[in-house]
Parts: sequence; C-alpha cells; structure tokens
Amino acid sequence: MADYQHLPQDDYDDHAPRTSFGRNLKKSLTKQNAVLLATAAVAILAASSYWLGSSKEWSHHPTHFEQAGISPERFEYGVAKCGEIHRKDKHQYPDAETRTFNPRFVNGTKPTVFKNGFIFDGVNESYKGDVLVDQGVVVKVGGEIKPPKDAVVVDLKGHILTPGIVDMHSHLGVFSWPILDATNDFNEMTEPLVPFARSIDGFNPSDVARERAVSGGITSILVLPGSSNLMGGEAFAFKLRLTDTLSAEDMLIEYGNKDKWRYMKMACGENPKNRYGRQVRMPSTRLGEGWLFRERFSKATKLKLAQDDWCAAAAALPRWGRHRLSTPFPEELQYESLVALLRGDVRLNVHCYETHDIEAMVDHSNEFKFEIKAFHHALDAYRVPDILKRAYNYTPMVATFAAKFGYKKEAFQASVLSPKILVDAGIAVAMKSDHPIVDSQHLVYQAAMAHHYGLTELQALASVTSVPAKAMGLEHRIGKVAIGMDADLVIWEKHPLSLGAHPLQVYIDGIAQIKNVNPEDWSEQESPLIFKESPELVVPKVRDACSAKAKDAVFTGIKKIIREEGEEVSSKGELVVIVRNGEVVCSGLCRRYSTKDTPVYDLGGEGVVLPSLLSVGTPLLGLMEIPPEHKTGDGDLNLNDVVINAADGLKFGGLHMDEAFKSGVLVGVTAPSSAHVVQGVSVAFSTGAEDALSSKNAVLKEQVALHVRIGQESKSILFPTVSSQIQFLRSSLEKGLSHVFDSNNFFAQAARGSKPLIVEVHNRDEIIRIVQIKTELEKQGASIKLVLLGATEAWTVAKYLALEGVDVILRPYHCMPVQWTAQRCLAGAPLTQETGLSALHKAGVRVGLSAIEFEDLRQMSWFAGWARSDLGLTEREAVGLVSWNLAKIVGLSAETIASSGVVIYNGSPFEFGPKVAAIVGGGKPGIQCNPRAF
Ligand SMILES: *[C@@H]1O[C@H](CO)[C@@H](O)[C@H](O)[C@H]1NC(C)=O
Ligand SMILES: *[C@@H]1O[C@H](CO)[C@@H](O)[C@H](O)[C@H]1NC(C)=O
Repeated sequence: MADYQHLPQDDYDDHAPRTSFGRNLKKSLTKQNAVLLATAAVAILAASSYWLGSSKEWSHHPTHFEQAGISPERFEYGVAKCGEIHRKDKHQYPDAETRTFNPRFVNGTKPTVFKNGFIFDGVNESYKGDVLVDQGVVVKVGGEIKPPKDAVVVDLKGHILTPGIVDMHSHLGVFSWPILDATNDFNEMTEPLVPFARSIDGFNPSDVARERAVSGGITSILVLPGSSNLMGGEAFAFKLRLTDTLSAEDMLIEYGNKDKWRYMKMACGENPKNRYGRQVRMPSTRLGEGWLFRERFSKATKLKLAQDDWCAAAAALPRWGRHRLSTPFPEELQYESLVALLRGDVRLNVHCYETHDIEAMVDHSNEFKFEIKAFHHALDAYRVPDILKRAYNYTPMVATFAAKFGYKKEAFQASVLSPKILVDAGIAVAMKSDHPIVDSQHLVYQAAMAHHYGLTELQALASVTSVPAKAMGLEHRIGKVAIGMDADLVIWEKHPLSLGAHPLQVYIDGIAQIKNVNPEDWSEQESPLIFKESPELVVPKVRDACSAKAKDAVFTGIKKIIREEGEEVSSKGELVVIVRNGEVVCSGLCRRYSTKDTPVYDLGGEGVVLPSLLSVGTPLLGLMEIPPEHKTGDGDLNLNDVVINAADGLKFGGLHMDEAFKSGVLVGVTAPSSAHVVQGVSVAFSTGAEDALSSKNAVLKEQVALHVRIGQESKSILFPTVSSQIQFLRSSLEKGLSHVFDSNNFFAQAARGSKPLIVEVHNRDEIIRIVQIKTELEKQGASIKLVLLGATEAWTVAKYLALEGVDVILRPYHCMPVQWTAQRCLAGAPLTQETGLSALHKAGVRVGLSAIEFEDLRQMSWFAGWARSDLGLTEREAVGLVSWNLAKIVGLSAETIASSGVVIYNGSPFEFGPKVAAIVGGGKPGIQCNPRAF
C-alpha cells in the first residue's frame, strides 16, 4: 500500500487552483477520507497502468507515488483542466429577454426604429408593428414605437421584416471565389480523420461571396469543412459583417464569449470512400468508414476516461500536505476536439445521405455516447425518421436542400416531399446552401421551394431562421426578431417566399450592410403576400380519363393561353383546350368546335396553358442517369476527336427525363459531353417518350447543332491553352468553309449555316475572339449561326452581340463568379440594378435560359418567373426564355414545338404554388393528370 507520507510535497496550498472545481475539491477533502482515498488511488493506479499499457501515446510518466511528481505548475494546470472539462454550467446562456447588449455592438451605432412594417419574427404569424434596435440588440417589438431622440427612423412602407437568414452549412471563406487551387481550403484531403483541422484557420473574410450572401439576407453562417473526410474538422459560426480589423475572430457570432459553442463536421458515404478508395487506402468501402470512425472514437474515449481518472485521482489526494500526482493531466491535441465532443462541448454536424449511412452513424453515436445535432444533406432521411430518433440522447435535425437530387447514387432517391415528411414526423428541418454548391445568396429560394412542396409558410421561413439558429445552439442570439435578440434584420422587397424576392436592406448587429440604399426610394407595399391555393384539376368521371387511353378531352376554366410567340389569349377563365385523338386541335375560345359528349377537365377558372418548355444545354440529360457512375448511361468520352452524335447514346426513361417531363419540360436538346473542345452533335427528343419507336415525336431531330467548348474546362493534354482551343475552332471552321471537308462534315455545316454552332464559353475576351472569327469567316462567304452557351460575361458585350446577331443561352440564369476568367457576373438586386439577362435583353440579344443540373429542370418555369420578376418582363417574354427563344436558337421549328405538346397549369407557372395540372403530348399518348415531382 502506498504511503501517503511519502507523496511528493509541494506548495500546493500556496497555489490554490483557480477553478471552482479546485475550490470544491479542497473543501470536500478531509482527513476522514484518507482511507477511502487510498483505496481509490490504488484503483486509479491500476486504471492508469492499464491505460499506459494500452497506449503509450498519452503519457511518458510512470505513475509511482514514491517518485518525484510533476511540477506544481503542471499539477495545477491539470486540476484547472479538470475544473474546466467538468464544469457544471456549460453553455448556459441568459434568456434572450434579459439581453440588453450585443458584444458585437459597434460603438457609435445609433438606435434604429423600423416603422410600418410587417414582422415575421422567426416563429409566429407575421403581424404589423414597429421594431426598435439599440446596442446591437432588439429592444422593442410590435405596436407603435416612439423613436428615441437620436434614433434613425426607417419607414418600412408595409414591407416585411424578418430575422437575418441563417445558413448552417456554408464553405464561404474556405472555398473563396474565384475558385483556384490557392483558394481551396475546405478539405484537408491527406487523411480521412482530421477532427483537429479548423475551418477558422482557412477562413478568408475577404471572400467576395460574403457581400453577395449578405445581399441575399444571410447574416450568420456556420462554416464547415468539406465532406471528403470522415472527420473533416471543426466548424465555426460567423456573422457576415466584415469588421475593420479583417479578423476572422472578430466575425465570430460568439465573439467575446469564453465559453463558445464548438462545432464539428463529419461525413459518411460516397465522398470519403471515393476519395481514399482512389488512393487505395482506407476507407474504400462503408465498412472501412465504420471501422475508422469506431477506432478513432474508441481512442478518444480512452483519453476521455484517462482524463476523468486523473481528475478523480487528483480530487482524491488528501488536502493536508502538498500532494501531487506523478503523471501530468493526459492530453493530446489530435484528440482534443473529439474528447470535447464526447463531453458535449461540440455540436456535431454529419453529412450523410443514404438510410444505411444514417443508421451506421446513429449506431456509432450510441456505441460511443455522443450526440449528433444535425444530419446534413440527408436526402434519404425522410425514409427513416425512426432511425433518427434512435440516435444517442438527442434527435438530430436535418439540414437539407429543397429539391436537389440525382447528382450521385446516394442522392438519387430523394424526394421533394422530404422536408414536409420529416417535419410531420417531428424532425426539425433547415434549408442550407452548401455554398458555393448553391449560392448562399439564394438560400431563401430553397425555403420558398420547400414551401411550394409542402412546408407551411411558417415552417419554410423558420427553416432558414429560427430552426438553424437552434441547431447551432444560438437561439438566444439569432434567428428571431424578439426582445434581446441580436439586431440582425432583413427588409424584403416582397414576401421572401415569393419568386424573385430579394432584400432591400440587411442589418447585422444593428448596422445596415447594403450601401447606397435610400428607404425613401422604396415603394409602398399594400400587404404581405397571401398564398392562394390553386384549384385542383377536376377530372371527369369517365374510364381511363387520366391515362394513355384518354383520347378526347376539353379542358375548361382556363384564363390564359400562351402557346406561341405571337399568341396570347386571356379571359376571365372561359378559355378551353380541345383534344381530339390525343392531339390538341384548338385552344382559346374554340366556338367552332362541338364539345358535346367530350369529357370535361375543369381548371376552376385559373388554368394557364404554355407550350413545351425546353432543356437546351443541360449536360447529359438522356445520356447519363447518375453522372459519376459510368455504368448508368452512355459513358465518359475522353479526348476522342471523332465528332459523335448524342442520338447514338440517347436513353429514354429514367428519373431525370421523367422529372423534366412532369414539370413541363417536354423537349430536351442534349449534346454529348467530352473532354475534347468538340463536344459533338446534339439531339432533340421528347422527354416523355418510352423509347425511340414509341412515338413519332420521340426523336424530334437527330442532329440539332454542333457543340464546342472553349475555356478553362476544355484545357487538356491536347489543348492545354485556351488559344490552342480557339485556333482549333478557327481552323476547323476554315476547313469546313473550304472543300477540305465534304458537306456531311459538321464543321462544314456549321460554317455554312446549316447547323447552329453552339460554343460554351464564359470569358469576355474569349467571346469577342470567337465572334470575330465568325465575322472574319463570313467575309469569306461563311454564314455561322453562333450561339454562346453559359456565357457568364456575355452581358459585358451585349450591344456587340446584338449587332453581330449572336444568340445567348445563359446557363445558369444566376451566375456565380466561380472562374477566374469569368468574374464579371452581376449579383442583381440589391447589389446591382442590372443582371446579365437584363443587359442582354435591353441590347436586343435573343436569350434563352438553361439549367446546369438535371434537378434544376424542374424549375425552368420558375427561372422564367424569376427573370420576369427581376426584369419586369411580360409573361409572354418569360415563356420565350424557356421555350420558343431556345427553339429558334437551336433551329427547331415553331411547328415542332407546337406539335410536341402542351402543358396546362392550375395557376401562374411563374409563381410558387401552382403546379402542372395536365400534359398532353411530350412523347406520351393520352392525358397525364397532376404529374407530381418525386
Ligand atoms: C465602447 O464604449 C464603451 C462604453 O463607452 C466602452 O466601455 C468600450 O470600451 C468601447 N469599445 C470600443 C471597442 O471602443
Ligand atoms: C411567438 O408567439 C409566442 C406565443 O405567443 C410568444 O411567446 C413568442 O414570444 C413569439 N415570438 C417568438 C419569436 O417566439
């Protein structure tokens, strides 16, 4: 038995531990405890040697009481650590109502009163009232507020005021625009387990995305490391107000708080196993992922227990004499954050998609006893709410997208109904951007889509305010407009869930963020948007009314028909569409047609009829189902210089075509995708066709246009420079014009104008150069129908393009300054008056809109509606952007489009709410009723 008289003596009592733990420890230790303590010490000795035997990593000091102990300083440090890790009052925040001061307050900021607005407070129904902010917090809410003497008064003129938008999944600052190797700091991809990496160490406050995000109303973000690693590292929560110091620390939401919440990112599923599998190292499978998680958690658990043992041993030392332990407090920086997670000091966010990934992670949480605060992406979570509820001690919330799916296998079986299903199952749901995957500026658009697909107005608004704030443990500071909350506020031009909504002004810590905004310029808003239910299609009670067998029909209750460029018919809902033998034979008043005995499909007076919408330039539609999985379609073409036809690789059916069809995109024009400058020749097809034989409209045109790509993305061994790419294009066209190529050659056809030449290009100088080649060759007799696809910087030379007769397909509608060579990308209101589209439109350039991702094809009518809202277009102009403009640009005739089908909506397709009520055509026989997004 150890002899306590011989324990190292020191000046322990003179250096009383500072922590309350230490004080309690000293108080509670008395002589009577000595026997008990002796027993405990033996047990601890045994535990320690077990510990030392099992891992040499955490201590170099054998534990023998007879030996000289650690220095008094180290002992005291350890005792202080014990106090810190075992403190009782962790993350106890004051009730919001008691807060009168925001530590982020900037001296000199005047109080501000917002008058005459509608307040959405982050939780409840919106109401009319004023808001007073001072000292960086909300001081008063509701009713009429008399402004204090020195206050700034902002007349909201009936506009909606919401809390600042909270984005709980962003890589802003660690993946700064424009994206270069140098700015890519979001995955430390040399090790699958880097829980010790910290996003703050790479966070660049000067990322240009910050200002754009703020202009979308985003005021707080959680900056997570990326998802290539199982344990990606620590995340940090920032306000997006830049401080004069340019300091990341000064941007932390909890700036000044010593007991900040900590956050961590982990990831499971495809990303880590693909990343490391490629390097032929663990994890190459989900099995390896599970093992690595468990192995690391097990090590962290051992360290945690060693610490607890040490603390218990320290606490068990007699208070008489000057006792110390002979080993230092066990610590290891590598494991520090994981141990903190096991102690509940770190809020864990896990990126997982599939049900089995989620379950594996839930199992780990139970095995090692840590809470998962949120699953991110989690597109399959809606199928397993019960598994979420099995997680250790806490039901994780889900931070997700409203409508993204299909970009990889684990994202393939997602549903747009998932936010609603989860919320109904009692799981909190937040929308997040994953910026720059989705531009943080447009996070509220995700919430609006989630509303369209089933979340209530309040749930959708909460999904980007109070819900993510709570998920970050900061609900006493952000995400609500209430007394004591931080003065982070957004004033909206129209209801934030309506299409094209953007902020007029954004406040962070009570400070206005958008420059050159004068509230006097704001127009008076009548009342907040009321979301009106659209009447459901009333289907006739006849057999097979909504099936491939339905042949004749009369659609009634239609108020607007916009089928062709020159044609728009409106009425109070008395218009009809007559279908005979599966084809639309009349739309409008159709008085000459007898509708006797024809089954009636009624749209309740709100029906709107549009032509087929087109997908032009959305990569791989019909060629690949899951792009990273080459087995799911045509494959991947490398540097093959044979010009290939997309028609040869086209596969009908599949989820993406089906989703496009159901949302009114009845016509697809897809080019092959290649690493070469020449992509190949596109094919036009009906998205609803069963196969190439099933309908006369299945393949609408075998060879549509020649597609070429110039720029960064075409740099390869063959074309390492953009200039070599442009030279190749020039010489190919020259040969096409001469008689080196015969007339079947695609470059010959492009040079002679029998096929459009679609050039994917973004940079202004490259655009000018390509247009100059067209002009030069045309002097030599060429006639080139030049179309620019992508075209981020096309707006900067809009007049030139109009003059030279060059068409533009903007892809996507809202650009991001991702490429170094294409940074001239306008953010739109409230930062810029113009957008790329508005500049091109004003100059008279023919423009179409395209989606860069399959899943965005469901949103084509919304992109048109957004453009309508941004530019003040007529509905007809908006339809043109996604229909006949595109058809003309690629040379599909008006008849082709007219005969391809019609789409009937139960309200305006340019707003959220209304849905496709019926489709006639699109490659399918009969009548499709209420096709719904999956
Ligand atoms: C702001 O003013 C307060 C009260 O006058 C003062 O205590 C504080 O130090 C000032 N802070 C800064 C950053 O100037
Ligand atoms: C919402 O309504 C509840 C109940 O009336 C109220 O207690 C709360 O303060 C309101 N606002 C917020 C932001 O919670």
